[in-house]
Amino acid sequence: MIKSLSYVGISSPTVEPWHQFATEILGLQDVSDPTEDAVRLRMDDAVWRIAVHAGETNALEYIGWDVGDQLGFDAVGSVLGDNGVDLHLAESTLAAERSVSTLGWFRDPAGFRHEISFARPTADTPFESAQGVKFVTGDNGLGHLVLMVPDMQAVSDFFLNVLGFRHSDDVEAGAHIRFMHCNPRHHTLAFTQVPGHRGMHHMMLEVDSVDTVGLAYDRALAAKKPMAMTLGRHPNDRMTSFYVRSPSGFEIEFGSGGRLMDMQAAEPAGHYSQASIWGHLPPEEPLRPGMLERISPA
Ligand SMILES: [Fe+2]
Repeated sequence: MIKSLSYVGISSPTVEPWHQFATEILGLQDVSDPTEDAVRLRMDDAVWRIAVHAGETNALEYIGWDVGDQLGFDAVGSVLGDNGVDLHLAESTLAAERSVSTLGWFRDPAGFRHEISFARPTADTPFESAQGVKFVTGDNGLGHLVLMVPDMQAVSDFFLNVLGFRHSDDVEAGAHIRFMHCNPRHHTLAFTQVPGHRGMHHMMLEVDSVDTVGLAYDRALAAKKPMAMTLGRHPNDRMTSFYVRSPSGFEIEFGSGGRLMDMQAAEPAGHYSQASIWGHLPPEEPLRPGMLERISPA
């Protein structure tokens, strides 16, 4: 049903700094329309993958999923319906804004908005990174998101039992994080529980080599961008990465060498008591969670 993470949209009062942060530090391509109050970013052949819309607060506005084709679209609608969740069909103007012809949306138990579409077109021109960065996307999607949710069990059950995601593993090292995949990428979604709140902890962008990671690390340090975690390596997805704070309060994990899962094997989910094999040290004054929205009690 759900094939991969297609695109992500956030809102932010600080849109302007994204032009420089995205292109000069991360090596994304800025394809913003100057008549629109948003930053749109490319990382591969897709017309755009990340949109930052002007808004009053920093918030994760929508998570776009590729469902493959009309059959996949209908299958998601059907399982959602069986579980009492409405799949809304978006108007054609909104579908066009997301660069797709058919767009559906629903909310997960934490209240995050998810959108489904298929056959999103590729751009007319090749992807160009001013920093020479090559991102690892394709069938495994944009990257991964780690989300903070009020009730991890409810959200896990929804993605694993309703939407067909598979449990990769859990890390319990201070916080408890649950990782899940929908294609060979070790995880496309992970969740950690923050009672009464929801938000995005980080978005991971994967690149082709550890040197590409190191060069971006150097650019972020030289530009004195707030580093949320130094260079390090995770034991579960084996990603070598660093975490830099984005202008909108959440972190960007920039990494390479992520593990691929065998989609045929029914391996039991692993359990790790360490978040990192080495590195990933926080700054002396740890950054406060920057994209955390208080949800009024249900
Ligand atoms: Fe991550």
